[in-house]
Amino acid sequence: MSTLPDFRLETHFSRWEFAARYNMAASDMQTLSLAALLEMAAPDERADWEALQLGYIETWGTPALRQAIAASYATVQAEDVLCFAGAEEGLYCALLALLGPDDHALVTVPNYQSMETVPASVCQVEAIPLRPENRWQPDLDDVRRRLRPNTRLIAVNFPNNPTGAIADADIFAGLIALCAERGIHFFSDEVYHGLEHDAARRLPQAADCYERALSLNVLSKAYGLPGLRIGWIASRDRALLARLERMKHYLSICNAAPSELLARIALGNRETLVARNRERCAANLQLLDQFFARHADRYDWRRPDGGCTAFVRYRGADGVENHCRELVEQAGILLLPASLYQSALAPVPTDRFRVGFGRDHTAQGLAVWEAFLRR
Ligand SMILES: Cc1ncc(COP(=O)(O)O)c(C=O)c1O
Repeated sequence: MSTLPDFRLETHFSRWEFAARYNMAASDMQTLSLAALLEMAAPDERADWEALQLGYIETWGTPALRQAIAASYATVQAEDVLCFAGAEEGLYCALLALLGPDDHALVTVPNYQSMETVPASVCQVEAIPLRPENRWQPDLDDVRRRLRPNTRLIAVNFPNNPTGAIADADIFAGLIALCAERGIHFFSDEVYHGLEHDAARRLPQAADCYERALSLNVLSKAYGLPGLRIGWIASRDRALLARLERMKHYLSICNAAPSELLARIALGNRETLVARNRERCAANLQLLDQFFARHADRYDWRRPDGGCTAFVRYRGADGVENHCRELVEQAGILLLPASLYQSALAPVPTDRFRVGFGRDHTAQGLAVWEAFLRR
């Protein structure tokens, strides 16, 4: 296995996430306090919280949490769920377990970097390019052409970070059908599931559709609870999950017991928490519509289909890298410039930046951003 490269986006966040005044690039929803979450607990959960012992817990995740997660799928059973420390640990284990040096994988580009660089550290990887001129949709014929006898995996992420694109339902089904024809795995990063801006665009969760699909999810994004670090993979391929559980013995071993209990409370209030966050997105999207309409000479804005990020084109002659640097250094407005999303597999537009709209400070951030533009 070759060495993993620097995770550009996370390195940039290490420098700026807590130093910038307004993180206008966040990929997660507004969070809530421990007290607010505990108020949502059912009486038995509250009693479990008070009596909680701070020992190790099951590597798979506690039975109660696995049951609560399974209830968020149409067909998945508690035994089809393996919990992880965030989505990142699940992604890392799954992609390493599924691929060997003689294999080939296809992944969507642009992407959350590890979905490309973890497989590329093991085997040959090609892009499923998402392009703005094609509404960021995968081209099924192109995917079919790129399949090889040794292709073992197709990996996608919808709603997509950073573009906010959701694959059309027939394209998503077509990708799964291609995997099923060849008996290969389908890895679906669904961390933004539930944050569709038009309910009609919601995709089914892959683990409900195909026995060799892996649905990756987490409480970080649509639920706004990244501090819990609770993620999971749902898959009916139980033999694969058993292999991943053994890998986890070398990593986190098990999740933090308080986090798993808090995760159970959040999942019990799934509809309330995620619906509230969809409303937040809708309100903030209106603010962004107005802001970018006032500055159409500088920015080319298209509403995303889902998630809480968009990949906006910057028209300024000074270039997006310079613009983002000035905004963060001079105005405390953090955006993510295109360089952080460049891929070794396919061209990614170099004139875009990621903006996030999940946070309650969006209006204040936009006011400061606007004052900077009017200087
Ligand atoms: C698409 C996507 N997948 C996975 C992750 C990792 O999630 P977590 O930070 O909860 O491990 C992120 C985080 O930004 C993401 O955007």
